[in-house]
Amino acid sequence: MTDFIDLRSDTVTRPTPAMRKAMAEAEVGDDVFGDDPTVNSLQEFAADLLGKEAGLFVPTGSMGNQVCLGALARPGDEVVCEAGAHFLHYEGGSVAAHLGLVARPLPGDGAIITAHQVAGVIRPGTEHNPRTAVVAMENTHNSAGGRVFPIDEARAVAKVAHDQGVAVHIDGARIFNAQAATGLPAREWADCADTLTFCFSKGLGAPIGSMVVGSAEILKESHRIRKRLGGGMRQVGVIAAAAQVALETGVDRLAEDHANARRLAEGLAELDPQAVDLDLVETNMVYLNLVPFNRTGPEVSAALKVDGVLTLGPPGTTMRLVTHRDVSAENITSAGAALSRALLG
Ligand SMILES: Cc1ncc(COP(=O)(O)O)c(C=O)c1O
Repeated sequence: MTDFIDLRSDTVTRPTPAMRKAMAEAEVGDDVFGDDPTVNSLQEFAADLLGKEAGLFVPTGSMGNQVCLGALARPGDEVVCEAGAHFLHYEGGSVAAHLGLVARPLPGDGAIITAHQVAGVIRPGTEHNPRTAVVAMENTHNSAGGRVFPIDEARAVAKVAHDQGVAVHIDGARIFNAQAATGLPAREWADCADTLTFCFSKGLGAPIGSMVVGSAEILKESHRIRKRLGGGMRQVGVIAAAAQVALETGVDRLAEDHANARRLAEGLAELDPQAVDLDLVETNMVYLNLVPFNRTGPEVSAALKVDGVLTLGPPGTTMRLVTHRDVSAENITSAGAALSRALLG
C-alpha cells in the first residue's frame, strides 16, 4: 500500500524514524503496577497540556470513550449525544454492551448540539426515566466532516449540564485538529469537560494509543474500567514513547493537512458546485457528494484504486477523503486529477 495515495483515514500513517528511535530506546516497566516511566511521564505531560489533574493511557479512542463514560455514569443512566456520535455508530455498541447506558441522540445542526437542545432533555431520573448522567460532545466531529465544535456553544452546553449536576465528556479524538483550525488551545475545550479523550494514532501520526484526561478522582475509576476491559498493558512505554513524539511534533503540522483538504475540496467543487459543501471543510476531512456525478462509492473507489488512490468507497453516494502526514501537497494534486478522471470520465 506504500505506493498509493491513501485517503482512507488519518489512522494509516506509519511511525516516523524519530518515533521508531524513541520506541527502541524507551525506558519501560510494568504499567499495570504503575512502573512504566515513559507512560507516567506521557500521562503527566498530556494532563498538563490539557489543564487536567491526571491522564490515563489507553490503547484506542474507543476504549477512551468507554473508560470515561463508564466512570461518569452507572448502568441504566442516559448519555446525551449528537445523533452521529462516533461511539454510537462505530464502536460496536460498547456503550450499551459494556456499560449498560442508554443513549439519547439529538439531531445536531451540522452535528453541533446546542445548549438549548441539551437543556430540553436533561432529566433527573425517576422510577420511570433513566437519569441523565453525561452529555457528550465530539470535537472534531468525524461523521460531520471533521467539523469543529464552536467553543462558545461547548461552554454553554457544559454550563447547562453542570448546573444540573450532569457530567460532560468530550470525544476529542481529533481535538488538536480543532486547535489547529481555530488557533484556540485544546485546553479551552477540555475546560468544559470532566473527561476528554484524544488519539495519538490519527492526525498526530503515532502508530497506537489514546489518552484520557480528567480529575484524579474520575480517572481512578477510569483506570479500574480500563483493567476490566482488558486494557491494562505491561511494558507499554514502547508505544507511549512514539505517542510522546507524536504529541511534541505532530500538532504544529496539522495545519498542512487542513490546507491540503481545502485544496482538494476546492478542486472538487470546481468539477461540480454540489460536490462538496466548502463551508463544512474545516479540518482534514472532505465529504464528497457523488450524486451530481451519478456514481456510487464502490465504483469511484475502484476507479481511483487503478489510478493509485485509496479511498473507503462505502455503499451509497457520499465518500470521505482524509488528509494526513503521509499525503503531501503534491499527492493532493495527483489525487485531484485522479478524482476528476474517476468522476467525469
Ligand atoms: C471521533 C472518534 N472517536 C473515537 C474514535 C475511535 O478511535 P479508535 O479507532 O482508536 O478506537 C474515532 C476513530 O476514528 C473517531 O473518529
